[in-house]
Amino acid sequence: MGCGPGRVTILLHRLGLDAFGIDLLPQMVALARQTYPEFGFEVGSMLALQVSDASLGGLLAYYSIIHVPWERRPEVFAEFRRVLAPSGRLMLALQIGDERVHYDEALGKSVDLDFYRQDPDDVVTLLREAGVHLWSTVVKQPEAGDKTLQGIIWATKPAASVAQSQSDAH
Ligand SMILES: C[S@@+](CC[C@H](N)C(=O)[O-])C[C@H]1O[C@@H](n2cnc3c(N)ncnc32)[C@H](O)[C@@H]1O
Repeated sequence: MGCGPGRVTILLHRLGLDAFGIDLLPQMVALARQTYPEFGFEVGSMLALQVSDASLGGLLAYYSIIHVPWERRPEVFAEFRRVLAPSGRLMLALQIGDERVHYDEALGKSVDLDFYRQDPDDVVTLLREAGVHLWSTVVKQPEAGDKTLQGIIWATKPAASVAQSQSDAH
């Protein structure tokens, strides 16, 4: 989700997964299709996915929720929960922090690009409120080129029986 040029989607394929990529920018999707013509890439937004309910066994958002304004994360996580199958896995990668970093120039080009650093505890709380349960959080020290701590969060949508009993309890 937010597959960019498709480099991570292709890694998922090489692991034997039936993976496809979605990105907001048609230019990114065009680049991914050009580089990996044999795989599926579609234009779409993680805020309103053209993906059927409960149809995905897993969803990877690798450094892509970082471009969504903080206040819209509940919409994103509700979409992630909707499209995941029961017991489906979610993996998020993000930069840790509490600031919005804005770029209006990058690589010599004019851009309008925001990076929203994330507090892993906030993300886990929002995921839980959306009905996706924490499995594991890893905080990585910055590596070469990183400006912040990096976070990887794994979560899972409850199995159907758990989701049903929770909804029955309300
Ligand atoms: C930092 S790039 C990461 C790309 C890719 N995951 C990777 O690691 O190579 C973030 C990507 O998220 C995409 N993106 C931003 N907002 C999005 C949204 N609302 N829905 C889908 N993709 C989005 C951007 O277009 C961009 O390609």
